[in-house]
Amino acid sequence: MDRLRIVGGQRLQGAVTISGAKNAALPQIAAALLSPYPLELTNLPQVSDVENMLNVVALHGAEVSRAAHSTTIDARAILSKETSYDTVRRMRATVLVLAPLLARFGEARVSLPGGCAIGARPVDMHIKALAALGAEIDIENGLIVASTNGGLTGARVVLPSPSVGATETAMMAATTAKGETEILNAAREPEVADLAACLTAMGARIEGAGTHRILVEGSTTWQPAKHHGIPDRIEAGTYAVAAAITGGMLELTNARLENMASVVQALEAMGVSVWPSDRGLVVSRDGPLKGADLTTEPYPGFPTDLQAQFMALAACAEGASLIRETVFESRFMHVPELMRLGVNVSLQGTTALVRGGAKLKGAQVMATDLRASVSLVLAGLVSEGETIVNRLYHLDRGYEQLDRKLKLCGADIERLSA
Ligand code: EPZ
Repeated sequence: MDRLRIVGGQRLQGAVTISGAKNAALPQIAAALLSPYPLELTNLPQVSDVENMLNVVALHGAEVSRAAHSTTIDARAILSKETSYDTVRRMRATVLVLAPLLARFGEARVSLPGGCAIGARPVDMHIKALAALGAEIDIENGLIVASTNGGLTGARVVLPSPSVGATETAMMAATTAKGETEILNAAREPEVADLAACLTAMGARIEGAGTHRILVEGSTTWQPAKHHGIPDRIEAGTYAVAAAITGGMLELTNARLENMASVVQALEAMGVSVWPSDRGLVVSRDGPLKGADLTTEPYPGFPTDLQAQFMALAACAEGASLIRETVFESRFMHVPELMRLGVNVSLQGTTALVRGGAKLKGAQVMATDLRASVSLVLAGLVSEGETIVNRLYHLDRGYEQLDRKLKLCGADIERLSA
């Protein structure tokens, strides 16, 4: 298995190109199954989760063709409406194909995803949303077996909490339901709004995506479409921390300040300067880092996907930081590994107290999930000596050419192939 070798101490300077958003790409690839016409997606990040999702739709019979800067999915001839446990086990986002298959064919059998490193991650809200639209849903031998008699019917869908995936499931299902669907307590993440923009290009009629109330007019007439996905705000936030933690300055090309307000607020509270440039935004830190309290929340609150990265940053700050994780029940898998580098943190349930001022020292560390693994890389950038990060497949799920992008900004980093 590949590993990363990092020698800490370099201040990062230069520009990083932010890739397309993984969490926008995954539902858009699934949405292609709704339409008998081709969907051309540009700005897909070259990460393994996207490759996996393209394989999933191909397993269902869609034709996936690649060009230099675009991927076209033609789901004209779908053969299978079943997604196996082995497929879903590998990536829980595969559950996003449930709604398109059900909405288009009136039937779908998708394996229940297992849990993962950050929590049980049930899909009860996805199932309740589909039931509200008239689907019959049973769980048989670990499979979600969904069917409709005569198609879905528009309804009011009230989500118990603003789940990103459940909002996307409800929105995709509603596109073929008879009549109007109102989704209340919808997730407001930019990736939800980007999915709505993609569905609209495909012929859907959706209002209010990006707010807590989304209206979908059903009985869509599909058409061939092309969509350019939004840049990855979590990747941008990760490189912002890389600039801040090393005391350097990076321009994040393509990053959008408007999607990162809570992240910028947290950076500025910690003594980091952020300003817009005509290519994106610039992040710089030349004074001392200050501790700050952070609570993860659904968008537009501070993103849970940047919690691990900010913990590494807080470890190097003067003073303490209290970090509360409210979105997932066990998203502190990075803590034991960060402690091996010398991070001083204590956990109380879903709250971490980080005592700053650490002098980190390099060590062998183990990646456990996507964002935990990148927090180890960030800590390695400022750890004395050599840090080896193992199990890079976690990192490759969501970061395109991370080692190359960091090396271009002056990091002493190299990928060691097994
Ligand atoms: C999406 O996951 C993202 N993944 C996650 O990014 C991100 O952390 C999360 O949203 C929150 O922003 C993709 O978009 C592919 P949720 P999702 O449904 O949709 C509970 C990364 O690192 N819940 O908003 O699964 C759930 O357990 C990944 O890129 C239910 O209880 O997140 C969690 O505690 C990690 N029942 C909370 O809601 C449900 O039916 C938020 O989950 C659905 C969710």
